[in-house]
Amino acid sequence: MAADPSLAAAPVSLESALVRIGEDIDRLFGLALSIPADPRARLFEAMRHAAIGGGKRLRPLLVTAACGLFHVDRARALRVGLAVECIHVYSLIHDDLPCMDDDDLRRGKPTVHKAFDEATAVLAGDSLHALAFELLADEATHEDPFVRVELVTELGRASGPAGMAGGQMMDLVAERTMLDLGAVTRLQQLKTGALIGFCLEAGGIMGRVPAEGRGPLRGYARDVGLAFQIADDLLDAEGEEAKTGKRVGKDGARGKETFVSLLGAERARRQAKLLADQAVQYLGSYGPEADLLRAIARFAVERDH
Ligand code: IPE
Ligand code: IPE
Ligand code: MG
Ligand code: MG
Ligand code: MG
Repeated sequence: MAADPSLAAAPVSLESALVRIGEDIDRLFGLALSIPADPRARLFEAMRHAAIGGGKRLRPLLVTAACGLFHVDRARALRVGLAVECIHVYSLIHDDLPCMDDDDLRRGKPTVHKAFDEATAVLAGDSLHALAFELLADEATHEDPFVRVELVTELGRASGPAGMAGGQMMDLVAERTMLDLGAVTRLQQLKTGALIGFCLEAGGIMGRVPAEGRGPLRGYARDVGLAFQIADDLLDAEGEEAKTGKRVGKDGARGKETFVSLLGAERARRQAKLLADQAVQYLGSYGPEADLLRAIARFAVERDH
């Protein structure tokens, strides 16, 4: 269901869209996480440390770009983008814990368990996880409860054992087991792809596109998700800490099977590029209103951070 091109918004550059979404998400986290004057202050400070002032905000950008195809009100789309960023930030806090990847640097700052402590990091992650669903279930996100329930269901699916958390489990197993390309692809699709898939699905849900009409969005999301994670693995292998804001060389040091360990950097890079091109092809039925999504697909693989 392509939108009428005459109604399309003025073209926006990826750079300005990234700046704008960064400002919007920082502002909304600032409002949602005001620090109470009681012993929970430390928990809110930890959540703010992780959530505000950093990150590419790629997932909220995908949500707003997908919602933009269907002229969804930006304030509502931002609530959905904020919810998915809550899940993402929670997953990063827990991913960095000593019991997982044991990292001390995230988004150019000390990880939450370093700046605070492990118990606070666990609770900050738990709280962001809960906040995501609270945001979606609120009437301000959409007046139709069926739309809200679909958002909640899909985000639950994308972040739980059939999605991100399941992929994280497979990722830990990948440190001790030899995985083939099929297994690593499945791992990445769950670990990173599922949440990115939700971002596009949410555009369809908010835009009242029936499930059978969401095929192109799903195809785009699958390929961008995989390409994005290959780029993450490449940055771990050959990126710069000053740009990524996180430690590099960790996957190899932990013996983690990734696209780069299996294919080598050159073939992994080619594969990521191919996937980004394929993702763009899924948008063939859309006009200029999908240009931002096209630019995001390229950014997913060309980025240096
Ligand atoms: C890093 O995600 C972890 C992955 C799932 C690959 P991002 O690269 O989106 O991290 P931020 O949000 O920009 O910090
Ligand atoms: C983490 O993957 C993906 C999550 C679901 C958090 P990585 O462990 O590769 O992410 P980075 O490299 O630490 O950002
Ligand atoms: Mg990890
Ligand atoms: Mg990690
Ligand atoms: Mg990584």
